[in-house]
Amino acid sequence: MSVLGRPLARLEGREKVTGSARYAFESSPPGVLYAWIVQSTIANGTIREIDSGEALGMPGVRFVMTWQNALALNDAGDAELLVLQSRQISYRGQVVALVLAETLEQAREAAAQVSVTYDSEPADVSLSTTHPRLYAPAYTNAMFATDSVVGDVEAALGAAPVTIDATYSTPAAFNNPMEPHATVAEWHGDDLDLLDATQGTNWARETISAVFGLPPESVRIRSQHVGGGFGSKGPTRPNAVLAAMAARLVGRPVKIAYTRQMMFGLSGYRSPTISHIRLAAEADGRLTAVSHEAFGQVSPIQEFVEQTAVPTRHMYAAPNRLTTHRVVALNLPTPSYMRGPGETPGLYALESGMDELAAALGIDPVELRILNEPAIDPESGEAFSSRNLVGCLRRGAERFGWSARDPRPAVRRDGRWLVGTGVAASIYPADVVPSTARITAYPNGRFELAVNATDIGTGARTVVMQIAADSLGVEASCIDVRIGDTALPAAAPAGASWGTASWGWAIMKAGAALLEALQTTPRIPDSGLSVLSDTAEEVAAMTKMARFAFGAQFVEARVDLESGEVTVPRMLGVFAAGRILNPRTARAQFVGGMTMGLSMALHEDAVVDANAADYANRDFASYHIAAHADVPDIDVEWLDEEDGNITPTGGKGVGEIGMVGTAAAVANAVWHATGIRVRDLPIHPDKLIEQLPSPY
Ligand code: MOS
Repeated sequence: MSVLGRPLARLEGREKVTGSARYAFESSPPGVLYAWIVQSTIANGTIREIDSGEALGMPGVRFVMTWQNALALNDAGDAELLVLQSRQISYRGQVVALVLAETLEQAREAAAQVSVTYDSEPADVSLSTTHPRLYAPAYTNAMFATDSVVGDVEAALGAAPVTIDATYSTPAAFNNPMEPHATVAEWHGDDLDLLDATQGTNWARETISAVFGLPPESVRIRSQHVGGGFGSKGPTRPNAVLAAMAARLVGRPVKIAYTRQMMFGLSGYRSPTISHIRLAAEADGRLTAVSHEAFGQVSPIQEFVEQTAVPTRHMYAAPNRLTTHRVVALNLPTPSYMRGPGETPGLYALESGMDELAAALGIDPVELRILNEPAIDPESGEAFSSRNLVGCLRRGAERFGWSARDPRPAVRRDGRWLVGTGVAASIYPADVVPSTARITAYPNGRFELAVNATDIGTGARTVVMQIAADSLGVEASCIDVRIGDTALPAAAPAGASWGTASWGWAIMKAGAALLEALQTTPRIPDSGLSVLSDTAEEVAAMTKMARFAFGAQFVEARVDLESGEVTVPRMLGVFAAGRILNPRTARAQFVGGMTMGLSMALHEDAVVDANAADYANRDFASYHIAAHADVPDIDVEWLDEEDGNITPTGGKGVGEIGMVGTAAAVANAVWHATGIRVRDLPIHPDKLIEQLPSPY
């Protein structure tokens, strides 16, 4: 059996469970100072005055950085990183000062004594589809077109025998990886050294060198172990800029970490979304129109447009289609990447709508989706590199026991519980970005793989080792792996489900070239024989094609008639995600994604307090994320698929596809159990209880 496809355990597993794996904040260079952030207490206005006098007189305090004494920074395209550059405040929680002290406790104590006065203006914090300042952005996140129009949706809706017109909404959602954002910064002359909690140090270096006006080669960033990211550690966050700036000004190393409360604002989050879905179908179930109008928010300082309606462009073969995105700038923190941007909230809406359509037509929801399966990508007209959504739906239905399902809602009772099942489909882009990798052979028979991949807990370190071993035809134990350092060959970030495919391609290319070089090398020098690969040319030359991973989620939900509480005893996900390179780590990705989808459907709910003009719940007591007791035994299977139209590994990314359809499948199961269609996530008991029949 090839080393690819083996369920190898994570290389750093022992270090993680014994605590010897170090996150960025756990490193303390000699002379390090601790930083504590002071955040604005108004949501809109200007700083009148900052009085640091008392703080500076406190024990151990060395410096208080404000807009008046901070370094001037360059705009690198993300205004979130222009920290301490002006008096302007655009949302509550923006950084207004940074206190540097000898200990964490001293910095924290002094931060509370920094006195800031403001000239406050009214704040606007409420998103609606009728907000007067809604506008059409130039493009969405990831540079997708804002709108798309094919055919005549209005005419098709007017002529169709069956239509659905419904609005679905999702609340703001905060990423909250286990490891908060943290940076240790140290200058050596004009060279900057960062340990940073980031999903990609090459991207971080590009940003940091631009912000500070440094040549990239004088910035080194390392991220040996990263405790989760979910998108929030994709782009560089203010913590890295603050640490670097403070270290420069005080001439000592500086370390900084967000508190859990700071994570709710300074690390990005998913915009709340509102999706107006309209579907039209013939009586036989064939879609004639799909319309998805999406609404979201941005902040006054930075535009990040959740691409909510983009996945709808690729899902079903309706001849008439419309998608739009409208946003409004509100005095709230800046949205950013969060667990399957676009696909996750967008497919919740579309796949809920498809379930409503199936019920209106009297057609099984699995069959309705299969009936509307496109032969080519509806948006681009391009061929799919592979599209096995039908296979996922059919296999899932079989494994889940779908054929025995009674389609009628609210007719299954088990004591005080109503029971139902639901299904939804998933899609997520399977893209690659250029990467480089170096493999070195040594005379003792060992090989070193050097690739600037990042392991955010996914098992990346392990799978790149497997790919290298496979490319060389040796055992995995012969490979020493080096990742997470800009001193290594540049590679894709661990984001957008790009990592494994992108790194893998570069590694396979390096491995093949090294084998060739070894043929003509009579004796490997003691310093080793190295080959460096680069996939820039291959990636640029890729044929135009629609490349996506697919999946289908099946869910059983039980609703307590007494309390309205929803529990999910059973979930199944079947995926078509190309060749699975490590079944153990891939399964964990699918299960993790489905857990996040469950959490989104039933629990996570960021609530805006209009008086405070801010999110009110900023800890794990009030912002509930699915915990062990909420999560059932999740069953995962994947189809035997190998997609040679993406990379020679045959694989697609598995990081985000698991989450995408899950929330819709849960909501659809709740409808099937109760007959109540909750169109506003999360499905908390208060949205069900009043409409449920008496349990007695
Ligand atoms: Mo993912 S939200 O693209 O890191």
